[in-house]
Amino acid sequence: METFQALLANKLSDALAKVGLPKVGELTPATDPRFGDYQTNAALVLGKQRGESPKTLAERILACLDAGDICEPPAVAGAGFVNFTLRTDAVERKAGELLLDERLGVATAESKKRIVIDFGSPNVAKPMHVGHIRSIVLGDALARIASFLGHEVIRDNHIGDWGTQFGMVIWGWKNLLDRQALARDPLAEIVRIYKETNQRATSDPQVREACRQELVKLQAGDRENLDIWNECVAFSMQDFEHVYKLLDIHYDIQCGESFYNDRLPATVDRLLKSGIAEISEGAVCVFFRDIPELTDKPCIIRKRDGGFNYATTDLATVDYRINDLKADAVWYVVGAPQVLHFKQIFEIARREGYTADFRHIPFGSILGEDRKLMKTRSGENVPLRELLEEACSRARKIVEEKNPDLSEAEKIDIGQKIGVAAVKYADLSQYRMTDYAFSWDRMLSLHGNTAPYLQNAYVRIRSIFRKAVATPQWGVEAQTGHRPVATADKLTFTDRSEINLAKRLCQFAENVPQVLNDFRPNILANYLFELANSFHTFYESCPVLKSEEPLRSSRLALCDLSGRVLQRGLDLLGIKVPEKM
Ligand code: ARG
Repeated sequence: METFQALLANKLSDALAKVGLPKVGELTPATDPRFGDYQTNAALVLGKQRGESPKTLAERILACLDAGDICEPPAVAGAGFVNFTLRTDAVERKAGELLLDERLGVATAESKKRIVIDFGSPNVAKPMHVGHIRSIVLGDALARIASFLGHEVIRDNHIGDWGTQFGMVIWGWKNLLDRQALARDPLAEIVRIYKETNQRATSDPQVREACRQELVKLQAGDRENLDIWNECVAFSMQDFEHVYKLLDIHYDIQCGESFYNDRLPATVDRLLKSGIAEISEGAVCVFFRDIPELTDKPCIIRKRDGGFNYATTDLATVDYRINDLKADAVWYVVGAPQVLHFKQIFEIARREGYTADFRHIPFGSILGEDRKLMKTRSGENVPLRELLEEACSRARKIVEEKNPDLSEAEKIDIGQKIGVAAVKYADLSQYRMTDYAFSWDRMLSLHGNTAPYLQNAYVRIRSIFRKAVATPQWGVEAQTGHRPVATADKLTFTDRSEINLAKRLCQFAENVPQVLNDFRPNILANYLFELANSFHTFYESCPVLKSEEPLRSSRLALCDLSGRVLQRGLDLLGIKVPEKM
């Protein structure tokens, strides 16, 4: 099923071909609804290129445009823009088709790729903190959207489970460990010993050297150190899993840094042999002499002492993902401070001859309400687990106030759905590069561009259906779920708000694929917000259950479609909807 945008774009290029003009310009949604639904700047672009009047060109194009079945006669506006307004009957037909379509009009991508998405990727022996949430939430949404568009997605958690911090953790384990504290809260104790050792190592060269020795032993396969390391990894994983469960995050593979450990020497040898890397002052480095921003930033892939770096692991990871996993694309959802690192990695991969589509998808920071980096009162990073638990308990209180008659179990369940959704949505509704201030009041508000507002729109629709099912002519069970699906033979829109809502619903299929152009789930989030607004306007001006047939069925169908688009759209963002709240 083609979108209106695609249909019009095709008709426009047919018209251009008929007039003998090249296909230029764009056909986009109208910037101002007063001028219609779509617009094109084709005549303007052509006018500039050929030194002709855009208005005259526009009229010539329109004379050959065959779009009478979907839009009103188009108007030329301003300097030569062409505006298109959809015909009501075309919108009615399309909405009717959407109603029968599982995918709600969203086509699958033309070329299907196998995409590895590296997201989350926390570090062992350090708790996941609020900063990790952006990678998790963004990566998960992109993975969901890419799969929905038909790509084969491999979700990979590149856990930081190897590296210099383990020298310190092991030294701390042997010298500072409090067994009772470990039994009470393992990760907190591991973090404590790590931090304390780190402090001591900074001021005491002997401790520093001892930590280095522990690391060398670990890397050489020392049994005792490997056991300690294993135990720390297991404790950390438990903590991560708890957060993933709360957030409903799943991985296909979790190949942490240690997974690549055996492959590092070969990776370095290969780069040396091919001449991509060279030995410089005893270390193995890759230089980027021809790239201005990297000329003075070589990438060290083997240190003078023989140790490997974060970058070496990432190069081995590239090999694995391309050669073993056969990925066509690799997306790294990692914060903006690592921009340079990925520039280096991708450049080395290119020199090695890899042609896959490597993308770093960076993002900004989460700030506290004071607009400084978010910290606890004692200046620590805010642990993610505590933050999510607080979100759920705050949301539960809101449910309690709004709907005290719900059962205790329902309140907890709904509180979880709203709390987690609020945190995710606050993130996803922002452009990813924006630093945003974390505010409980704002994200949990039932008004404005928030998850609870969108969930509430869905709940409202569901309650219409609960009332509707109680009436005999309305009780069809959908094959695909428990929800009644509208069976109106023909949709009829008489009110402005109905037409507007239906047009919005038709735009779902235009918005979803757009997210992947520049990895912006906020496009989808903002679309859903607009949809919820259109739904509220419709609901306020059009009675549904109390209207006469055939309007009643038609309006119920519109409600059903709105509910399904909201649910599917939020699901693509990793957000669940409650039936009541
Ligand atoms: N563990 C790293 C960190 O927390 C992120 C890893 C990102 N992925 C990668 N392939 N380098 O900073």
